[in-house]
Amino acid sequence: MRLLFVGDVVGRSGRTLVNAQLPALRDKWRLDFVIVNGENAAGGFGITEAICEELIASGADAVTLGNHWFDQREALVYIARQPRLIRPANYPAGTPGQGANLIEAKDGRKVLVVNMMGRIFMDTLDDPFRRIEEELAACPLGRNCDAAVIDFHAEATSEKQAFGLFVDGRASLVVGTHTHTPSADHRILPLGTGFITDAGMTGDYESVIGMDKDEPMRRFTQHIPVARFEPASGPATLCGVAVETGEDGLARKIGPVRIGGVLAPASPDFW
Ligand SMILES: [Fe+2]
Ligand SMILES: [Fe+2]
Repeated sequence: MRLLFVGDVVGRSGRTLVNAQLPALRDKWRLDFVIVNGENAAGGFGITEAICEELIASGADAVTLGNHWFDQREALVYIARQPRLIRPANYPAGTPGQGANLIEAKDGRKVLVVNMMGRIFMDTLDDPFRRIEEELAACPLGRNCDAAVIDFHAEATSEKQAFGLFVDGRASLVVGTHTHTPSADHRILPLGTGFITDAGMTGDYESVIGMDKDEPMRRFTQHIPVARFEPASGPATLCGVAVETGEDGLARKIGPVRIGGVLAPASPDFW
């Protein structure tokens, strides 16, 4: 299968670019399945029904989230009605929505999409290592699903890399999100799982992790909040990772994607 994962879409700048690019990328690369992280899509904080539906209409088969998943309160209700919207799986039992789902691609093949949050410098949720065992046991790759993608939303590179190795050979892709900065370590792990520590954001990089720089700079220098964080509004870079899987559901090829904005462009050379 040909999979594309698009990193945290930040605000209008990120949405405009991903909605403009995704339909053409689906055709050009003959993509079978697209996952977009939408935790910052609504003004930098959370996601709304309208924004999620627009991402799906543009070509997202699934939308994953992160620590900002409920910032727009309507998401707490909407997520129960939208099986393609996935929030971190390791929230307590009883939390609205789903942390994993088996989603059908256009051609009928099935993709397990899991969202999981790390715990280093983040909320202390349930153990993601224990939690992923349950999800993978319920839906083994190659038996119950044709591909399995885990969006591991975490701050610490160490935790992300340990998590990748922990599920190596049992998932098609472990993609890190949340730092909003793409890492250059995309590769296939020894047992066949595609991995990148962070996909980077889809937003304006002339910013502090997607936010207009003025308020973050004030808080770092003066330590007194003055205004709300506002997403930077310049041209975005679409950042993500492209993966091709084999018959067994494991990764055969992986490459970074960077389109538009101020970052150096990158596209998979295998499609
Ligand atoms: Fe984010
Ligand atoms: Fe985040």
